[in-house]
Amino acid sequence: MALFDDAYTADPHPVLARLRGSGPVHRVRSAAGIPFWLVTRWDEARQVLTDASLSKRQPVDQLPAPLRAALATQMLLRDPPDHTRLRRLVSAAFTGRRVQALEPEIVRITDRLLDGLATEAEPDLIGRFAVPLPFAVICELLGVPEEDRGPFRAWSDVIITGGSGPAGMAEAMAEIVAYFRDLIARKAARPAEDLLSALLDVLDDGDDLVGMALLLLVAGHETTANLIGNAVYLLSRWPDQRDRLRDDPDLLPALVEEVLRLASPAATSTYRVTTRPTTIGATTIPAGEQVLVSLLAVNRDPERFAAADTLDLERGDAGHLAFGHGVHFCLGAPLARLEARVALGRLLGRFPDLRPAVPAEDLRWRSGLLMHGLEALPVRLTGA
Ligand code: HEM
Repeated sequence: MALFDDAYTADPHPVLARLRGSGPVHRVRSAAGIPFWLVTRWDEARQVLTDASLSKRQPVDQLPAPLRAALATQMLLRDPPDHTRLRRLVSAAFTGRRVQALEPEIVRITDRLLDGLATEAEPDLIGRFAVPLPFAVICELLGVPEEDRGPFRAWSDVIITGGSGPAGMAEAMAEIVAYFRDLIARKAARPAEDLLSALLDVLDDGDDLVGMALLLLVAGHETTANLIGNAVYLLSRWPDQRDRLRDDPDLLPALVEEVLRLASPAATSTYRVTTRPTTIGATTIPAGEQVLVSLLAVNRDPERFAAADTLDLERGDAGHLAFGHGVHFCLGAPLARLEARVALGRLLGRFPDLRPAVPAEDLRWRSGLLMHGLEALPVRLTGA
């Protein structure tokens, strides 16, 4: 039986609840027929995400030559001690202070996008707000100049949506790698107050830096867009919690954590490979097999979370694994949280009656295993 079919895309939770109920790990197949192991319970997810014998290294030999080097060096696809070295270097540049310093710019970008929304009758919140916001923030963070953002946006859209098939994707990747090489050369000649310039101080201007820039662009874009869209969707499903938030805007951080838990924007971890036989629960996975953690499933594990399927702003327990766990824990989590708080705070503050313009069953979710977010979310901004 196909697990990851259209019914799964429309609502993954019944499938995941059934799997989780029958055990912590399952041998399944992707829609393309590729076998892997899916972890569906919280305890076992922590075990897998901290087990150093599971490797992040993935074969990249099928990729086109210009990409191979840059992708092979991405931190997310490396193991300690190589990963540790890169992570330490990038953490020294991508600091809490740098994230905080972005707040006024995030507010400015948000308000500009909200002005645009206000001119439309039923704007698509995803296309007109949730996607362009993190894109503009990443550009700001990396130091992509305004005048370059048009083509940059087009390539990154192809990479993120995968919409143009493998050939279009490879072409867009090659363009973006070439663009980053050029931008890095410009930053080397004239450093600015941005992350790329700061990274130039600690990384060579070659593959490591291009790989890092690509990773930040891809990792921080669709995930954050999904978080914003999923939050608006969930609030429309739980009007009592929407009212609680209206009465007490200090609950905004709690909302962000509950959305991360209940509608995890990265639906799964990235793949890990067993390097030796690994026992999870009663199952021993042989060496050389791919393992994926279903973050959607583990964040609703009833053994870990009371009333796990309910949005509860008073839960006061942020034990979700939506940003992963262990050495690859999301580097951008503070930025994602800041963006979501600013975006949702200003959106709901300005349009208190905001609600979806179509019934929930007409909404389309993005297909694929790795992401969980809406393709589009038409909204009405006022109560009229
Ligand atoms: C890693 C989720 C936003 C940069 C991860 C991982 C998850 C995740 C689950 C770990 C994957 C694994 O262990 O297999 C999310 C979610 C986000 C978000 C749900 C938004 C709601 C961002 C942002 C950035 C970012 C805004 C940067 C601008 C990264 C990087 C890694 C990572 C660089 C790799 C860390 C490493 O390998 O050490 N993210 N992410 N993420 N994320 Fe995020």
